[in-house]
Amino acid sequence: MSKAEQKIALITGGSSGVGLATAKKLSALGYTVVISGRDLPKLEEAKKEFSASEIPPFVITADVKEEQQVKQLVEGTIAKFGRIDLVFAAAGVSMRAPFEESKIDAIEHLMKVNFFGVLYLLHHSLPFLKKTKGSFVAMSSLTGRRGVPEYSIYGASKFALQGLLDSVRMEMDRDGIHIGVISTGFIDTPLRQRILGGDGKVLTKTPLLPFRLWPLEKCMEVVMKVILKRQRDAIFPGFIRPLLGFDPINFGRMGDRYLKGKFGYQK
Ligand SMILES: NC(=O)c1ccc[n+]([C@@H]2O[C@H](COP(=O)([O-])OP(=O)(O)OC[C@H]3O[C@@H](n4cnc5c(N)ncnc54)[C@H](OP(=O)(O)O)[C@@H]3O)[C@@H](O)[C@H]2O)c1
Repeated sequence: MSKAEQKIALITGGSSGVGLATAKKLSALGYTVVISGRDLPKLEEAKKEFSASEIPPFVITADVKEEQQVKQLVEGTIAKFGRIDLVFAAAGVSMRAPFEESKIDAIEHLMKVNFFGVLYLLHHSLPFLKKTKGSFVAMSSLTGRRGVPEYSIYGASKFALQGLLDSVRMEMDRDGIHIGVISTGFIDTPLRQRILGGDGKVLTKTPLLPFRLWPLEKCMEVVMKVILKRQRDAIFPGFIRPLLGFDPINFGRMGDRYLKGKFGYQK
């Protein structure tokens, strides 16, 4: 990539998992990458994972729950590089708990990070993405496509995100902005060691997986396709998409029965 066509990517959740893997892939393709998270030492550690041949990432700390910090993150990127071509919203936290055991402050915290964190980022980056006809891509989940026991709150945050981005996509299409949403199953990242319970505290025992845990590299193929081919959305693993099609046919009964069985909620 020549200096004239240098592309700038801003990535939240850039210190770990999907965000970090995406930052490294984009950097290898010649993007200049800004990685963000709350923890500066963790971001500096993440920086060391970039090879000497890649452009080192620029680091900005921000808590996506805080609107002003997200605004400063976008403004800081513009102040340093003058443009933003891609925003990848990967910051997120997981929660697994029955709804009736979930505390209101824990629910609000999760919605703030997973939904408002993305909304603030979209709001503040759109004016700059308009100038570059850039991309805004967010990480969602299969639980943002279909109700799943014990994922009511996490799923609600991702359903909200999907609804927001599906609507804004139509509004911004005439400005040439690409909006992508990636909905995935369980991916092998450090997220699994940080799952919150209904009290908002990290679970001491990682819950058993009802489904396969997919390698991060497999998921990355899908993430990079959405970004580089400016795809509208992706569901990973892909075989889930036709299964979701059964819900309207049998009023969700078959899927409900299957998922209740998987999570131990059958009568
Ligand atoms: N892994 C999965 O199974 C899976 C499945 C479906 C969807 N997803 C979604 O994929 C995205 C990435 O997840 P991952 O698996 O890569 O998780 P991860 O390895 O735990 O990384 C999460 C990232 O988000 C950042 N983060 C968390 N809270 C934040 C906050 N309040 N402000 C700013 N940054 C914050 C973390 O950095 P700090 O903690 O240092 O701030 C970290 O960089 C998430 O949106 C997740 O919901 C993951």
